[in-house]
Amino acid sequence: MTAENGSTSYLEWSRAWTGRMPASGAALAARAPELAERLRAGVSAGEMPFLNMPYRERLERALPPLLAKLKPFRHMLVLGIGGSALGARAMQKAFAPGQDGPDYAGPWLWIADNVCASQFEALLGKLPPKETVVVCISKSGGTIETLAQYFLVRAWLQKSLGDDWQKHMVVVTDQKKGYLREEATAKALDALEVPDYLGGRYSALSAVGLLPAGFIGIDWQALLKGAASVAQPLLADPASIAQHPSFSLACWARELEEHDYGQLIFFCYIPQWAAYGQWFAQLWAESLGKDGKGSLPVPATGVTDQHSVNQMFLDGPRNKGCLFLTGEQPRSGRSFGQDLPEQWAWLRGKAFDTLLDAEALGTRMALCKSGVPLVNVHMGSLDEFAAGSLMMLLEAATIFTGWLMGINPVDQPAVELGKRIANTRLGATGYPQEAADLAAFLAVPAQKQAF
Ligand code: PA5
Repeated sequence: MTAENGSTSYLEWSRAWTGRMPASGAALAARAPELAERLRAGVSAGEMPFLNMPYRERLERALPPLLAKLKPFRHMLVLGIGGSALGARAMQKAFAPGQDGPDYAGPWLWIADNVCASQFEALLGKLPPKETVVVCISKSGGTIETLAQYFLVRAWLQKSLGDDWQKHMVVVTDQKKGYLREEATAKALDALEVPDYLGGRYSALSAVGLLPAGFIGIDWQALLKGAASVAQPLLADPASIAQHPSFSLACWARELEEHDYGQLIFFCYIPQWAAYGQWFAQLWAESLGKDGKGSLPVPATGVTDQHSVNQMFLDGPRNKGCLFLTGEQPRSGRSFGQDLPEQWAWLRGKAFDTLLDAEALGTRMALCKSGVPLVNVHMGSLDEFAAGSLMMLLEAATIFTGWLMGINPVDQPAVELGKRIANTRLGATGYPQEAADLAAFLAVPAQKQAF
């Protein structure tokens, strides 16, 4: 895909159809017309907002004044989990890395996506309430982890700010339903919508990810533009899905799974984009792990993980395919002096950043030589536009893979059981079956082995 700045991102396929894979994805590619029809119907029914972003105009109107209002705050604390947190974190790490470095002067973004009391205490114990805006993000408005944080943070704000606490709270949730929406209305909180049909893991490019991104100065409009550039051909002519890279990826991923490659490595050789690995893992796993099918996403970061999990990738079970992410890194950083010892003479005068490219090539070739089917996803630039285009590519590929698998890629029914049991354990009523199952589970005598 060619970006506004003239750079081109591409998929490189020469090592994709190896090992037990068929010679090409021709069989599945023949299903393009069927998927095109489904795409056309889904978009016209309003069921694919991640793709045509019908909310974009409203968001582009609502976000700038809200960001201007939040400018005086030095800290933003995001409460959210899963798809309500991972996109913002990926963008933060990729495009606002200053926070992790010395001498940073703000603004700061903190993302609380767990229920660890000591980590939460470490945040609330240090954040200055007067200088902090809290953004509570939940599509359903009823996720226990997020609401639990919300109740605690509301009390924390109220304690120091009294009636002013509402000015420090923003909610991002469903437009009409759910507890958080009721709360936003009752307490007159600033609120942005998570549109209908936009499930958590497909929502990073809505207010869910873009409000936190905008707060720390990330070019959120460019993210949207990049995403739209990848979606546009599919929207203009659904039949063009046959040539679209997201569909090619979907055919490949489905073939991988059918040929017993049960794991999909996401090897990120754009180190500053490493957190996209966790974002992709959630998108892929929660969308596609259904009916005993799917491939396990395995995020890894180059070059760090060459000294960790890479041995397993190269010589462990032959059950892995690989999405290998590389990019045109802007030349930067230091160079080695001429005074390097003789045994390192070949590094003299070279730039430090030449290591990354060379090591990416070395690992990619080693994976190919070990027979790992591999697609190289190469980003022509590393700006927000490029990231938006990658996110849209992977989201569309995930949906199409699910359609090829014959599962629903936008629900996550299996994870509901654990949530119901946890709620029951905490005293929630209305789950008689879970209460009985829980009692039976706990009645099995434990077999403990001390160590
Ligand atoms: O991708 C998903 O749908 C989930 O991971 C959700 O994002 C996660 O469960 C949080 O849900 P909610 O945004 O409703 O609080």
